[in-house]
Formats: sequence, structure tokens, C-alpha cells
Amino acid sequence: MKHPYACATPPEKISEHHRRVLNTRRRNLLSALARLPRGREPYDLEIGCGHGHFLAGYARAHPNRFCIGIDIAGARLERAQRKTDRAGVDNVGWIHGDATLFLDSVPEHLRFSRVFILFPDPWPKKRHHKHRLVGPEFLKRLASLCRPRAELYFRSDHIPYVEAVEAALAASPRWSPESPETWPWESRTVFQDLAPSYRSLVARKVDN
Ligand SMILES: C[S@@+](CC[C@H](N)C(=O)[O-])C[C@H]1O[C@@H](n2cnc3c(N)ncnc32)[C@H](O)[C@@H]1O
Repeated sequence: MKHPYACATPPEKISEHHRRVLNTRRRNLLSALARLPRGREPYDLEIGCGHGHFLAGYARAHPNRFCIGIDIAGARLERAQRKTDRAGVDNVGWIHGDATLFLDSVPEHLRFSRVFILFPDPWPKKRHHKHRLVGPEFLKRLASLCRPRAELYFRSDHIPYVEAVEAALAASPRWSPESPETWPWESRTVFQDLAPSYRSLVARKVDN
């Protein structure tokens, strides 16, 4: 008997559909990336920027740096965009998309000097750890898109996630841990306001 939840779509059609969705998302990312201004180095990136609380303020305080915020939630980015439009901040670009796909789409002329990852979804259950954004592969890919001696800033209230990222950074030949005291600029994010406590990590890209 056919399973009640059996899908009527044959597997080859499902993968074809996924492939098309992925291609559309990649195309959208590529055109968003192509709209970013060239020659505005240094470029700083915030991954999972949410409503843009941190990056909008950071961009305003650093007019000589170009800031890029990426998030998978489009509605959050619309708020971020309204915020920077209202404030007349013109050194920031908001990009809607998945961070992993984004890293695979970054053009060669765009390399990051600072990367912020603030309160990423912690996926606390062990069986969900595979959904966490930051792990060894992600750090390796990120390093390849960063300028020499680029800085990575990571902050979370989920201490097991911080410890996992700390271990991945320590094991990586591409990143060297630095003191969290060197955090360059403070502005509380939405999730930071909700967190009773948190930990920060700083690492610098190692160039051989
Ligand atoms: C817990 S919120 C933190 C938001 C903000 N950084 C803060 O501190 O308030 C995590 C953010 O990461 C975004 N996010 C989750 N997975 C993502 C992915 N794969 N690519 C891009 N953004 C993602 C979510 O949409 C959400 O805005």
C-alpha cells in the first residue's frame, strides 16, 4: 500500500525543482552583488544581520568603509533598508539570501576586511547542529573571501556554540584567535538585548 505521506512527484523531478530554485536564488544573489559599488574598500560584512541594528550604526560610524549585510529573512532587511535610507547612510548594501550560497557567489573583486556574525541561530539540539552556519568548512570558505589579516567577530549567548566555533578557529590554519577585548565597535543588537549574557570571539586571518 502507498504510504499516506508518499510524495507524488518522482525524485528526479524534485531534484530538478530544487536545482531550479537554487539557480534562481544564485542568480538573484549575483545580481544583488553586481549592484554593490566597486572600489569602495574596505568592505565589511555582517552575516545574519537581521533588522540591521548593528550594521546601520556601524556604517554610520565608519563612513570610509563599505558595509554589506546579508540575511535570509527579506522582511528584516526591508526594515534595515528603511533605517539606513531615513538616516541617509549610503555606505551600506543589504543583500537578501542564504549565507552559504552568498559565500559561493562573491565575485573576485569583493574581499572582506571585517566579518561580523552576531547571535546566529544556535540550533541547540545535537541532531540540529548540522544546521549551524559556522563550522570548519564555513570558516575555511570565509577565509578564502577575506583580505590578508582580515578580522572575524563572532558573538553568541549560546555558550556551547561559542565553544564549538572557538575550537574550530583554534584548529583552523587560516584563523588565529585574538583577544575579544579588540572588539572594534559596540551597538546592541535585538538578540543581544534579549540575552542575559554572551561571549565574544575575535580571530584574525592568517596569511602564509
Ligand atoms: C538570532 S537572529 C540574530 C539577528 C541579529 N544578528 C541580532 O543579533 O539581533 C539570526 C539571524 O540570522 C538569519 N539567518 C539564519 N540563517 C541564515 C542563513 N542561512 N543565511 C543568512 N541569514 C541567516 C536569520 O534570518 C536571523 O535574522
